[in-house]
Amino acid sequence: MTQHILVTGGFGFIGSNYIRHLLETTDGDTLITNLDHVTYAANPENLADIDTDPRYEFVHGDIADSRAVEKAWSKEVDIVVNFAAESHVDRSIESSEAFIRTNVLGTQVLLETARSRGVKLFLQVSTDEVYGSLPLDTQDVFLEDTPIAPNSPYAASKAGADLLVQSYFETHGFPTSITRCSNNYGPYQYPEKLIPLFVTNALDGHALPLYGQGINIRDWIHVTDHCRAIQAVVEHGTPGEVFNIGSRNERNNLDVARAILAATDADESLITYVTDRPGHDLRYAIDPAKLEQHTDWKPLIDFEEGLTQTVAWYRDNRTWWERVRSGAFREYYDRRYGAIHE
Ligand code: NAD
Ligand code: DAU
Repeated sequence: MTQHILVTGGFGFIGSNYIRHLLETTDGDTLITNLDHVTYAANPENLADIDTDPRYEFVHGDIADSRAVEKAWSKEVDIVVNFAAESHVDRSIESSEAFIRTNVLGTQVLLETARSRGVKLFLQVSTDEVYGSLPLDTQDVFLEDTPIAPNSPYAASKAGADLLVQSYFETHGFPTSITRCSNNYGPYQYPEKLIPLFVTNALDGHALPLYGQGINIRDWIHVTDHCRAIQAVVEHGTPGEVFNIGSRNERNNLDVARAILAATDADESLITYVTDRPGHDLRYAIDPAKLEQHTDWKPLIDFEEGLTQTVAWYRDNRTWWERVRSGAFREYYDRRYGAIHE
């Protein structure tokens, strides 16, 4: 039976990897619509090779604009997977307005359209950042019932969306799932985020700007493992529930920087300590045991292997990131890091 999946934010990092994963793992009965507003973080090149696949279509539109969202319903939609978001914490500190519009209002508009049209599942792609920060020196982890305690405007906007999604399940009996994943890395990631920023800087012999003392810990997962986990929730999740996604791979930022320098044959002297991020969460650690027990999903890519593959991808795809870094990114980079560049 044909199923139609509406993916929002499909030109972004995780959305494009997810669409590619869907096309590789499903047959001709799965149709995909990508609804994307094509913000600075989008890159149509990410999906250029599948552009003519008859199972795939792109609709240009803003999830916060109900008329644009309606355009994505040219045929009945079975499943919505909502990736569309403003996703970078540092930008939310500079200005939070776009984060509230897309992440909160956009989710509400999408929910309302999906509810009025009727879908089998609305999956909200959320983040472990909604749980806030863990102390550095404990074994504490985020569980699905850990209280929501976001610290950045980005995390607060994602938490707002999660609460709204959950309210549609409780109030309207609308079939929702929420996934909360840890930090992703892999191909096609916009180079404002730690790993692609440091890899591309290292490949060009530029400074790696490490916030504070480099002691903050993130829990890294390869984007392919995240995409497989989302699909496991689409296929086997229980409506109304939250599923954590992670691969039990905590690293502090200094160790990540050193691993990148080793993988790029670059010198340790490139590490440059810069002013810390305001409200910088100390540590994230996510427990994915619930998902592992509910489904046959488990993470498959360990960090060393995944980082080596990722560095190789950026090495082999210099044209992709040089084009990204030469546009609006340049202005952002100079504003944020100006003094340390070169
Ligand atoms: P990204 O910034 O790379 O891509 C976001 C995409 O959403 C872009 O294509 C952009 O054009 C689109 N978009 C933005 N505003 C839109 C709007 N109003 N209407 C339609 N499209 C719009 O983001 P990402 O890193 O791929 O993250 C995708 C999702 O996963 C986000 O919801 C994010 O919160 C979540 N997430 C990310 C990570 C991570 O480590 N990157 C981890 C956990 C969860
Ligand atoms: O945990 C999931 C979240 O991971 C997602 O919800 C977000 O969308 C995604 O951006 C990411 O958030 P982080 O803030 O953890 O990611 P970022 O890559 O910005 O930073 C990772 C760590 O590296 C963090 O401790 C800050 C630090 N950092 C980051 C940058 C950009 C630096 O030290 N220097 C930098 O230049």
